[in-house]
Amino acid sequence: MQSVAGAGVVVTGAGSGIGAALARRFAAEGARVVVNDLNAAAAGEVARSCGATAAPGDAAGEEGVAALIATARDALGEIDLFCANAGVACEQDGEPDWAASWQVNVMAHVRAARLLLPRWLERGNGHLICTVSAAGLLTMLGSAPYSVTKHAALGFAEWLAASYAHRGITVQALCPMGVRTPMLNGISPAAEIILGETAITVEEVADAVIAGIAAGSFLILPHPDVARMYAGRATDTDRWLRGMNKLQIRVEAAG
Ligand SMILES: NC(=O)c1ccc[n+]([C@@H]2O[C@H](COP(=O)([O-])OP(=O)(O)OC[C@H]3O[C@@H](n4cnc5c(N)ncnc54)[C@H](O)[C@@H]3O)[C@@H](O)[C@H]2O)c1
Repeated sequence: MQSVAGAGVVVTGAGSGIGAALARRFAAEGARVVVNDLNAAAAGEVARSCGATAAPGDAAGEEGVAALIATARDALGEIDLFCANAGVACEQDGEPDWAASWQVNVMAHVRAARLLLPRWLERGNGHLICTVSAAGLLTMLGSAPYSVTKHAALGFAEWLAASYAHRGITVQALCPMGVRTPMLNGISPAAEIILGETAITVEEVADAVIAGIAAGSFLILPHPDVARMYAGRATDTDRWLRGMNKLQIRVEAAG
């Protein structure tokens, strides 16, 4: 798929932030959109604002994902593009934080793919965009559960792309750094120090996604600098880690 015009699209976590901007932009480009969010009022409001269908509920647990995909198929006929966008950023690293991060940031994608793939493989096409994060390519100081589960989400998206590209399945990983949303505003001052200067708007992310769909490359990088940082991490890991630790020291000094 190079354009979403006419496509049946689902966006999870679309009651706010990046997901809401994607839903509105896809609708403006002529897609038929299903807006999911745990927050039913927010999903309804975004859906109304862009002529989409609201499908409130959990997009992470097995039952929630199955219900969402069934509702979306009723509304759309078939799902052409599924955006696994819902995510959580936990500041603490207790057992509940790790568990929630694993369910929403990783298993939601696994469960959606498991239910979408059989029909997509049968018809020879299907498109999954996983909202990961630059934290999945690099790291996010201040949150181990976020960093680790975003790496896992990237690993799953890579595995899907490597396994199914020849059967018509397109998988892309959206990996922004800071984006001005309630999630960024809600987390620690560390995030503001690390991401504040380069944070972009949700509309800029939507622009990058539309361009990324047209280009078809696996990584969608709304902050182009991330490609350079990712290469630096791979080619000189120790230097990259020293740089990240310097940033941690700056964060601690400011806090
Ligand atoms: N904001 C950033 O700086 C940033 C940067 C990189 C990646 N991301 C990723 O972008 C995605 C969207 O984040 P955002 O910044 O727009 O956050 P946001 O908090 O504005 O929106 C996230 C939405 O997801 C919903 N949600 C959470 N768990 C859900 C679930 N189980 N089922 C359905 N909906 C659920 C929330 O209710 C919320 O409306 C996340 O995956 C996040 O990790 C954000």
